Amino acid sequence: VNEKETLIAWLNDAHAMEVQLQKVLESQITHAEGHNDVRAKLEEHLDQTKHHAELVEQCVNQLGGSTSALKSGMSNVMGMVQGMSTGTAKDTMIKDALAAYGSESFEIACYTALLEAANMVGESQVANVCRQILNDETKMKEWLEQNLPTVVRMEMTQMVTA
Ligand SMILES: [Fe+2]
Ligand SMILES: [Fe+2]
Repeated sequence: VNEKETLIAWLNDAHAMEVQLQKVLESQITHAEGHNDVRAKLEEHLDQTKHHAELVEQCVNQLGGSTSALKSGMSNVMGMVQGMSTGTAKDTMIKDALAAYGSESFEIACYTALLEAANMVGESQVANVCRQILNDETKMKEWLEQNLPTVVRMEMTQMVTA
C-alpha cells in the first residue's frame, strides 16, 4: 500500500463519517423541537455536513479511488457516539450536545491528520478541502462549547417544572 492509497483510504473513512453524521444530526434536530436557535444551528451544520461528504467524495474520485461505505470502519466509531443518546430521556438534548461535541472534536482530529497526509503526498487540492472543512468543524465545536451551559439550563429547568 503506497501513500496515495493510504490517503484514499482515510478520505473514505472521512466520507463514511460525514454520511453517518448526517443521520446523527437529523435525529438531534428532531430532539431539539421547540428550541429554534439550536435547531437552526444543527440544520446549518447538517447542510455543511452534506457538503463535506460531497467535497471528500470529489477528493477520492480525483485521486482515482471510489467511496464505499463498506470499506470503512469509521462509521462504527460514529455509531458508538450516536448510541449515547436514546431519545427517550428528558436529558436527550444534553446527551446530544455532549455527543456532538465529541463528534466535532473527532472530525477536527481526522481532518488535521488528513491535512498533514495530503501535504506530505503533495495533494494541495485535498489539503485545501481539509482546511475548508476544518474551519466549519472548529466553528461548530466553538458554538457547542459556548452553548452547552444554555442547553443544560434549558433541560434542567424543564425537569424542575415538569
Ligand atoms: Fe463534517
Ligand atoms: Fe461536523
